[in-house]
Amino acid sequence: MRIVLKIGGSIVFSDKIDVELVKSVSKQIISLSKNHEFLIVVGGGTIAREYIGALKSIGKDDTFLDFIGMEVAKLNASLFMGSLGEKAPVEISNDFKDALSTLYLGKIPLLGGTHPGHTTDAVSSMLAEFAGADLFLRFTNVDGVYDKDPRKYKDAKKLGKISHETLLEIVEGTKAEAGVNTVIDPLAAKILKRSKIKTIVCGKEELKDIKAVIEGKHKGTEIS
Ligand code: UTP
Repeated sequence: MRIVLKIGGSIVFSDKIDVELVKSVSKQIISLSKNHEFLIVVGGGTIAREYIGALKSIGKDDTFLDFIGMEVAKLNASLFMGSLGEKAPVEISNDFKDALSTLYLGKIPLLGGTHPGHTTDAVSSMLAEFAGADLFLRFTNVDGVYDKDPRKYKDAKKLGKISHETLLEIVEGTKAEAGVNTVIDPLAAKILKRSKIKTIVCGKEELKDIKAVIEGKHKGTEIS
């Protein structure tokens, strides 16, 4: 299978860099690469929000802030350059064509941000569409897609399996309460829907066994 793997920035760097996690994920990906092709996108997370918040308070415009977020995501992605051994690319891909060329060279492409105006979820979904991926695996601090914001509502229910249409309705807030739109970028939900890419949204803990998640053994949400 060809798989796009998105790792939330706050997973690799919450209060400090989680070196063990980076090493564990890389080791698993190198081993799984015998049977699958991977393209990895890493988010900006906590550090990106810190820089964006600071520069916003100074008065910088949104596009400038986006460029900073993109750079932080690339910096987070570069952590995997150190741990992917011979599978590591020589540089972080700035666009989808470069990522695909890198894959064809037998390396694992690494991406952070690509263009201002969206998030690394959108990067991941566009990359998945462009590369003709069979699966989009998304690991973040939220362990799945909920019917409403679990941080606001105690009775929020995690959804085991939903359609792309339902995901789009949830993130656009047409059916459920606002707040859940943080679960995935609405632009990403639109792209996933049009390209019908099977997506799995899981929590950080499940990064311990990526093979199991690929095989459908997980506690997150499957979108198909
Ligand atoms: P992220 O997509 O990483 O947001 O980009 P996030 O919510 O912190 O994601 P997680 O927690 O890592 O999953 C951070 C910021 O960088 C800019 C946007 O401003 C975004 O909010 N960005 C990122 C872009 O403008 N373009 C991109 O392609 C990626």
